[in-house]
Amino acid sequence: MRAGVLVLGCWALARAVWAADPNVELAKMEEARSCLACHGDRIIHAQRLSREVWTREVVKMIGWGAPVRDRELLIDYLAAQYGEGQPEPVPEQSGDGTKGDLRRPESAKPLPKR
Ligand code: HEC
Repeated sequence: MRAGVLVLGCWALARAVWAADPNVELAKMEEARSCLACHGDRIIHAQRLSREVWTREVVKMIGWGAPVRDRELLIDYLAAQYGEGQPEPVPEQSGDGTKGDLRRPESAKPLPKR
């Protein structure tokens, strides 16, 4: 029994180590560093774009001030993770608007008179 747990533990550890692609980790850091100062990651991760369109998007964001260091790595990552063939992103709200965005009731308050 103990040996079985040990073997399972080693297998899980080895799997986790092999699964972590260092380039993916670097690209995630690049994204966190250069893309998330102005908006959240949802606006990025909800896209399904070709490599060409991701390139245009990143170039546009650089033009707006994104401090990207490794452009090609970031574009490779975005095109792989959020490319055209990937499954649809989970919707932010359910169809009737009752689930998903808990901030809605507050944001629906009237704005002060000006
Ligand atoms: C200097 C601020 C800034 C930075 C940094 C930035 N963005 Fe944006 N981004 C914006 C603005 C402003 C919008 C447009 C509107 C909005 O928030 O609805 C936007 C929108 C987007 C959109 C939606 C499509 C579009 O073009 O409107 C995507 C995708 C996106 N950004 C990706 C990125 C990526 C990838 C990075 C990192 C390379 C990045 N952004 C960095 C400001 C920024």
